Amino acid sequence: MVNKPLISNRVAQIQKSAIHEMTRLSKEVEDVAFLSWAKPTSDTPEHIKEAAIAAIKAGKVGGYSENAGLLPLREEIVKKLKRDNNIDANTAQILLTVGAIEGLSAAIMAIVDPGDEVILPSPTYSTHIRQVVIASGKPVLIPTIEEEGFILDLEAIKKAITPRTKAIVYCSPSNPTGTVFSEQQLRALAEIALEHNLMVITDEAYEYFVFDDHKHFSIASIPEIRRNVISCYTFTKTYAMTGWRLGYLHADEAMIPHITKAHIPFAICAPVVSQYAALGALQGSQSCVSDFREHYLAARNLMCERLDRLSSVFDYQKPGGSYLMFPRILLEEGKDSTAFCIRLLKEGKVSTTPGIAFGPTGQSHLRLSFCVPLDAINKAFDRMEVYFR
Ligand SMILES: Cc1ncc(COP(=O)(O)O)c(C=O)c1O
Repeated sequence: MVNKPLISNRVAQIQKSAIHEMTRLSKEVEDVAFLSWAKPTSDTPEHIKEAAIAAIKAGKVGGYSENAGLLPLREEIVKKLKRDNNIDANTAQILLTVGAIEGLSAAIMAIVDPGDEVILPSPTYSTHIRQVVIASGKPVLIPTIEEEGFILDLEAIKKAITPRTKAIVYCSPSNPTGTVFSEQQLRALAEIALEHNLMVITDEAYEYFVFDDHKHFSIASIPEIRRNVISCYTFTKTYAMTGWRLGYLHADEAMIPHITKAHIPFAICAPVVSQYAALGALQGSQSCVSDFREHYLAARNLMCERLDRLSSVFDYQKPGGSYLMFPRILLEEGKDSTAFCIRLLKEGKVSTTPGIAFGPTGQSHLRLSFCVPLDAINKAFDRMEVYFR
């Protein structure tokens, strides 16, 4: 008798993450210059760590919190949503989650039935695609318009809607392109979603990192569509709290109990020690956030300058936000972005992420992160200048 693999089709069809594969390969290369991680390299600010330590010492973190999260933290989040996102919320509309990731997963699980279609502007953060697949939904990738800075192709989105379309999932500012979708485009997207009664699930992980004249716009601030929106946020990027695993989502209060039903089997509640740290983050000085933003802006400018010196190898759209960019590889060998990145790693000692990891439109691109010290950008580009010469 042949043993059948006991893995669900749902999980079996998920491909290995190219990001994690590159990380594994990068560890085999000595003294590598890393431009492949999308996680802040700064440590969590002291006052946030101290808030966590005080909660530990006071014996507050050993149990579960309410499934939705600590009430004082939800109260602070309500204030933040009003101040920074122009969203009128109340505490019954907030759910604390294990990073933005678990919030997105719970939201998608709560919305998507097997076979439902979910529209994702592409290239997109690959985890969103996997989250739809794990919910047995069908990801429908709609290319963005690269020449105009990877903006939404609203006509193509309209055309892709079928009776099975349930939701649109996007992240702005974008991972991997750094595009900040404009208020005008998001208002038009809201109209499309309303016309077809679709849910909109947003990933606003990089909300504070926007540059030049770009403004972060939260689609849930449009009153007419608020009920159809689930907005996902995180402490990971804003306060350099990657390992604390804390995020939250905002949705209509009628929706929250359903999303909570999807949240409980995976998490019960978000980590309590991290919730106290987050309370310290929201109640404390916000100067760390502007310091991070200033650094990313300087790093983006440096990376663009260095890319300008490699204009026979890369073409790029200047990112308006996040700490990521997505240059196109002009060389013939860039057509296979994975092979290109592996060669650049092994022969040039620079670690980047192949564009194909972000959907088929990512082919011929690579993703570069500028959430690193300026020295790291210079080191990587000094090497690339030698390598491509
Ligand atoms: C767009 C986007 N969303 C979510 C995450 C993960 O967020 P969290 O750590 O809050 O789960 C990342 C991390 O790289 C990201 O780039």
